[in-house]
Amino acid sequence: MRILSGLKPTGRPHLGNYFGAMRQFVDLQSKGDGYYFIANLHALDGVRNRKEMQEFSLGVALDYLALGLDPSRATLFLQSDIPEVSELMWILGSVTPMGLLLRGHAYKDAVDEGRAVDFGLFAYPVLMAADILLYRSDVVPVGQDQKQHIEVARDLAVKFNQTYCPGFDPQTGEGGALKIPHAMIRDDAGVVPGTDGKKMSKSYGNTIQLFAPDKEIEKSIKRTVTDSKGVDEAKDPSACNVYGMLKLFLTAEERVAVEDRYRTPGTGYGHFKQLLIDKFHEAFDGARARHRELANDPASVREVLRNGAERARVEASKTLRDVQEACGVRW
Ligand code: TYM
Repeated sequence: MRILSGLKPTGRPHLGNYFGAMRQFVDLQSKGDGYYFIANLHALDGVRNRKEMQEFSLGVALDYLALGLDPSRATLFLQSDIPEVSELMWILGSVTPMGLLLRGHAYKDAVDEGRAVDFGLFAYPVLMAADILLYRSDVVPVGQDQKQHIEVARDLAVKFNQTYCPGFDPQTGEGGALKIPHAMIRDDAGVVPGTDGKKMSKSYGNTIQLFAPDKEIEKSIKRTVTDSKGVDEAKDPSACNVYGMLKLFLTAEERVAVEDRYRTPGTGYGHFKQLLIDKFHEAFDGARARHRELANDPASVREVLRNGAERARVEASKTLRDVQEACGVRW
């Protein structure tokens, strides 16, 4: 089973990235052939500074490694190290209906908010489809917000195969130059809420970052918005932003006990915030220490990316060749 996913280097990773996606990357590396990459070409539409782009990109690689991605088992690489992805994007672009892109969430949101929209944002889903299809991915572990993009990748694979591969059977997905991928979205962490209850997102400023200094972690957890119920009042865990994050760290039994505590008067929100701080450290202190160590050796991180790109490129060039031959631009 080929597992593939990517992360955009537009800032520091947060609990949403971890529980929605990165945790699955690490768990899955022993269950299949993992391909994980840093989507720096996608990030170009937001990061417009050379130094920042390099720092964020290396930063994401470091994050993956600190969280337990093992480069001897999984392939970790930089999107832009594989030029084949740009050619596949163009070829897919020629079977992409405009309507599909006009319905894209990211594009529509930008237009609705009156932001300037460039071709990079508009064509984002086509590049993402190329990312996924180039490596013949079976499953793509992501958060809920990427579901539409995976559907676009599936649609484009079918469209390409139907157009150019006479033996393609859309029922079984067999006989095409491109494999049909599946999204993998966790029920319990598809949308991780942030400190204000909205989806945790770099762009909303409501994140808890994984590798920020202790003080900053504490500060962001403590500023989580709650209602004004006092210590002596019963509270509803399902309506609490602190619990929305806290439950991700808890076992089923712990959830029952903590929910009970919410419903029984006598415990204030301060206690639950402290519990979240403690659980955060319990879960991430090992990774945070590894992160500090790796940060002292950026050359070895770059080396991991180079080796990963070498492996990824072998797969990428095979798929691109099949696609080029299927549509007649190579013979
Ligand atoms: P990005 O960098 O915005 O997010 C990386 C991963 O984190 C997930 N995620 C969340 N999951 C649950 N709750 C949240 N609050 C939350 N916030 C983020 C995202 O769903 C994602 O899985 N377009 C992608 C990067 C990409 C990609 C790909 C992914 C480029 N090509 C090919 C998969 C396959 C993105 O911007 O993710």
